[in-house]
Amino acid sequence: MRTATARAHPNIALVKYWGKADEELILPVAGSMSMTLDAFATTTTVTLDPEADEDSFVLNGSPATGTALARTTRFLDHVRELAGSRERAHVDSMNEAPTAAGLASSASGFAALALAASRAFGLALDERALSRLARRGSGSACRSVVDRYAVWHAGTDDETSYAEQIDAPDLRLVIVTVDGAQKAVSSREGMRRTAATSPFYDAWITSTARTLEEMVRACAAGDPTRIGEITESHALRMHAVIASSEPPVRYLAPASVAVFDTAAALRAQGVFAHTTADAGPNVCVLTTPADAERVAEAVSAHGSVRIVGPGPGAHLVDETVDAGETDGVAR
Ligand code: DP6
Repeated sequence: MRTATARAHPNIALVKYWGKADEELILPVAGSMSMTLDAFATTTTVTLDPEADEDSFVLNGSPATGTALARTTRFLDHVRELAGSRERAHVDSMNEAPTAAGLASSASGFAALALAASRAFGLALDERALSRLARRGSGSACRSVVDRYAVWHAGTDDETSYAEQIDAPDLRLVIVTVDGAQKAVSSREGMRRTAATSPFYDAWITSTARTLEEMVRACAAGDPTRIGEITESHALRMHAVIASSEPPVRYLAPASVAVFDTAAALRAQGVFAHTTADAGPNVCVLTTPADAERVAEAVSAHGSVRIVGPGPGAHLVDETVDAGETDGVAR
């Protein structure tokens, strides 16, 4: 019997991914950059089952059905194709992120699944190949393969679209789970709508490519202030292009906007605080280790807070291969 367990964490983009050039391969319209977190792990075990005629998926202790199961099966089909296997698998996945935190568990989920499934099916993928594989499950998952900070190169095809590590100063994110969160349009659907209807979409694509270049320069220069400024402007640009869709989508709640204002007030007092938000009402404030407690206290009026820092990429926790089988050889 072959079984492998892997763990991965969510990531928060400081330069955002919003829009696909290829829906099937999940190639983005522009590159992005993120911090992999040191909290809210997903731990996933994949066990091959020669007797089964379909895959099964248990998520947080309950059998998954519908879209969650279909996406997992589709992903496993791709792994089977790479491995030249027809065996079905059982997937057991646990998320440490509280659902209300709104942290995209698809990134940690598909990064952990990519590693556990590739090992269970006998593939030995290097980091780049693993990132490309995770991308097929969810775009942002390709960045959760990487330690600490990642740049996702947009690329032009399956081979050239992957994330790799980038050096950046040691920063913290204060995650604010805001009150009064409403149900959001999924990222996938939101991206389609923006691409199909926003008159500003072309400008978003070209400006994001330039913003990523600028972010890479700021990271190389070890310039936290510039990293913070780019982070906040880029997040607001993403929310602006999304809000210009038809019918409009607005992810930020009044309490989310209040966090942006609180962070701006802190900045005026010399505190390092730059805000970002993904496709939902919860907000993250980028800060330094020295200022993190002060920021957390100031924004706690708007929701519950948690300070996180850069964490590890996807890694193997456990692996069992029956005697007689060749371990780690890509077929
Ligand atoms: C706003 O990676 O969840 O968090 O590729 O369709 O699965 P799919 O989308 P997903 O989108 C993430 C969008 C974002 C920005 C980001 O993480 O870069």
